Amino acid sequence: MKSTMKDDSISLSKTLLPYTLHLLLLIALLPIVLLYLYFYPLSLTKSQTQLHHATSSSPTHYTVNDKHKIDEHPCDYFNGKWIHDKKGPLYNGTTCGTIKQGQNCITNGRPDSNYLYYRWKPNECKLPRFEPNTFLQLSKNRHISFVGDSLARNQFESLLCMLSTVSKPKPVHHKGSHWWHFPSHNATLSVYWSPFLVQGDERSKSGPNFNTIHLDRVNEKLAKDMDGIDLIVLSFGNWFINVPSVYYENGLVLGCLNCSGFGLNYTDIGFYVPLRKALRTCLNGIIERKVAKRNGIGVIVKTFSPSHFDGDWDKAGTCSKIEPYVKGEKKIGKMESEIRRIEIEEVENAKKKSNAFGGIRFEVLDVTELALLRPDGHPGAYMNPFPFANGVPKYVQNDCVHWCLPGPIDTWNEIFLEMMKKWDWKGQPRSEE
Ligand SMILES: *[C@@H]1O[C@H](CO)[C@@H](O)[C@H](O)[C@H]1NC(C)=O
Ligand SMILES: *[C@@H]1O[C@H](CO)[C@@H](O)[C@H](O)[C@H]1NC(C)=O
Ligand SMILES: *[C@@H]1O[C@H](CO)[C@@H](O)[C@H](O)[C@H]1NC(C)=O
Ligand SMILES: *[C@@H]1O[C@H](CO)[C@@H](O)[C@H](O)[C@H]1NC(C)=O
Repeated sequence: MKSTMKDDSISLSKTLLPYTLHLLLLIALLPIVLLYLYFYPLSLTKSQTQLHHATSSSPTHYTVNDKHKIDEHPCDYFNGKWIHDKKGPLYNGTTCGTIKQGQNCITNGRPDSNYLYYRWKPNECKLPRFEPNTFLQLSKNRHISFVGDSLARNQFESLLCMLSTVSKPKPVHHKGSHWWHFPSHNATLSVYWSPFLVQGDERSKSGPNFNTIHLDRVNEKLAKDMDGIDLIVLSFGNWFINVPSVYYENGLVLGCLNCSGFGLNYTDIGFYVPLRKALRTCLNGIIERKVAKRNGIGVIVKTFSPSHFDGDWDKAGTCSKIEPYVKGEKKIGKMESEIRRIEIEEVENAKKKSNAFGGIRFEVLDVTELALLRPDGHPGAYMNPFPFANGVPKYVQNDCVHWCLPGPIDTWNEIFLEMMKKWDWKGQPRSEE
């Protein structure tokens, strides 16, 4: 409930919160710092699990619109490598006015620009450059919503910038979320702050100092608006890992994470089980709602986006790489891989559940590998303007979680568009083709 109200404005500080939390947490709980760093080290264990990918699209192909011919062979967009590309991004920090300052690396004085000149090359096919007009055309008379944590917002802002290069959006006042409307296509983009995907209250300084998460309660704010949403992109994970939490089910405490320090005598159940339950509740909530209303939806679950704290979190030089990793140079960590697996499994479960009802389409936007390979794409110290204007300070705040705009996160939307092109929008309301 509280998180619903607090969300009136996803302010600058709001989206930085998970990061700030990390900082606070790191200061407060040194043992966890070590643990945290343990999870994000350079240690490249050879034995790590290989990423396996189901192809993102079903073999059946559709013609959404005559102009969008679909390839005969579905492509696995998620295995590939980053290659140099002279073209560079569609926008920059000056041309796009809606970039959050903490991710506006160029205007914050990041000196290198090499990281802007890469594109993702899937092994089996070519990923086309983002076509804003095509995206808008497919979004005509529709509402597309990004739901979850600050990475949902990060991806949303990337999309907003790319679309703004061809059509000017207008902000729409909507209580509890941010909406942008493209009058040219009557398309709406929105972003909902819901870092747990389910109902919950974030930890706060005024207390309690741990997250309170109701794993079986659908996020009310989202449920209320669900009927009008045609496509939803879910992003979550970071708010579960290593942030002290108490989990509830049926209004009763199910367990907690790292809560002994608060004098709470609950069983520590880690975060994997709660994370799975939260996603399942959210997906079930969408299915139930849409089936009851007999109105369709596309649901995309973005997989975990690894962060790259490769040095002291508060020192200059952390995630200051200026080149992507080459394929095979960096192996996925155990935690990232496990979270990704849970996400993919729950999407498969949801697909089965919704099979009887034809109007819901589930997809995985499996960014884990392609994000893993971009240690150079984070703001790092350039989350703040000109951090080294007066030399190198003793302590430097680093953001190695979010992505510079423009930056590698633009690619997530390129793949998102390819998914949309292949979709059969049957069963989904559309007033005009
Ligand atoms: C941003 O793009 C505009 C238009 O292409 C260009 O004039 C400007 O120099 C660019 N700014 C930066 C910092 O690259
Ligand atoms: C505009 O799009 C919304 C869905 O986002 C739809 O409900 C509405 O009917 C559309 N308006 C027109 C004039 O087609
Ligand atoms: C914590 O709970 C366990 C099991 O419910 C109980 O045996 C133990 O005495 C409790 N410890 C404290 C300090 O309350
Ligand atoms: C915090 O939780 C993590 C994940 O469950 C666990 O590995 C770690 O030991 C816990 N730390 C403390 C101090 O309880």
